[in-house]
Amino acid sequence: MARPKIALIGAGQIGGTLAHLAAMKELGDVVLFDIAEGTPEGKALDIAESGPSEGFDAKLKGTQDYADIAGADVCIVTAGVPRKPGMSRDDLLGINLKVMKSVGEGIAANAPDAFVICITNPLDAMVWALREFSGLPHEKVCGMAGVLDSARFRHFLSLEFDVSMKDVTAFVLGGHGDTMVPLTRYSTVGGVPLPDLVEMGWTTQDKLDAIVQRTRDGGAEIVGLLKTGSAFYAPATSAIEMAEAYLKDQKRLLPCAAYVDGALGLKGMYVGVPTIIGAGGIERIVDIKLNKEEQAMFDKSVEAVNGLVEACKGIDESLA
Ligand code: APR
Repeated sequence: MARPKIALIGAGQIGGTLAHLAAMKELGDVVLFDIAEGTPEGKALDIAESGPSEGFDAKLKGTQDYADIAGADVCIVTAGVPRKPGMSRDDLLGINLKVMKSVGEGIAANAPDAFVICITNPLDAMVWALREFSGLPHEKVCGMAGVLDSARFRHFLSLEFDVSMKDVTAFVLGGHGDTMVPLTRYSTVGGVPLPDLVEMGWTTQDKLDAIVQRTRDGGAEIVGLLKTGSAFYAPATSAIEMAEAYLKDQKRLLPCAAYVDGALGLKGMYVGVPTIIGAGGIERIVDIKLNKEEQAMFDKSVEAVNGLVEACKGIDESLA
């Protein structure tokens, strides 16, 4: 059987890391697409040259031609500009919306059957716009945010409790921005919910609140340290987890920016929710019950995402 084909639209920091991870995990052959001449070709060759040492046979190709992504099984989109210090994800809106238009059209014309994972920020609005521009089925277009935000939360919790990250499960919902909703009630260490761990004296409510805030600011913390760009290792790893769930029909329960129409009281919008990812793409939205406080936070986040979508409609008339 032919190897799956993974197209990476954008061959910058995240795109290059995605290519390396996809090759090392032998998820399939990789095509790196970018408008910057030489960048995707150089990264493809560099990564291919790591094959003999690592022991993979995946083929890598760099290109400026959308025709080369023809028939891709998965497209992961990072094309656009990342944040610089002092910029919010929302500041990127106008520039990256134009990029989503060209990318959406390129995918629609060349890889209409692909499972598309968008990473470009501001995430929830960009994945919505990418779906609109591409016209692909809603269940085949999603955004990577919740897996990363949850991974950051899990990492901070593992440090606080001095336990393996493997045993920490965590849930972060809502938009990928300052209003994201880390759900402590649904987050556990080996099945023991965080509120119980506070009662057991493993941590204090104040410390937990600080970890929740650090999770919300997780992207900005990295931007502040790097100064010239934003996070790329963990974002790429998170998207690869989603791509693998699709390619191997794993039916993973992963939080991601998905189209929700009915569940969680939402009518036809993209926002971070728990989903099941398998061979059908986003196969199911997990309609979890929120308590009053969680619902209020989620509503605020939904409102922020809707505001960005309205702003997109104001910038590009074809979206209105
Ligand atoms: N088509 C294809 N590629 C494009 C286009 C386009 N229209 N416009 C820009 N690019 C490419 C750039 O040439 C660059 O190589 O997108 C790449 C982006 O890479 P980086 O600048 O290194 O950004 P990265 O850190 O990978 O982040 C990409 O993901 O997390 C988000 O906020 C982040 O929106 C940003 C995106």
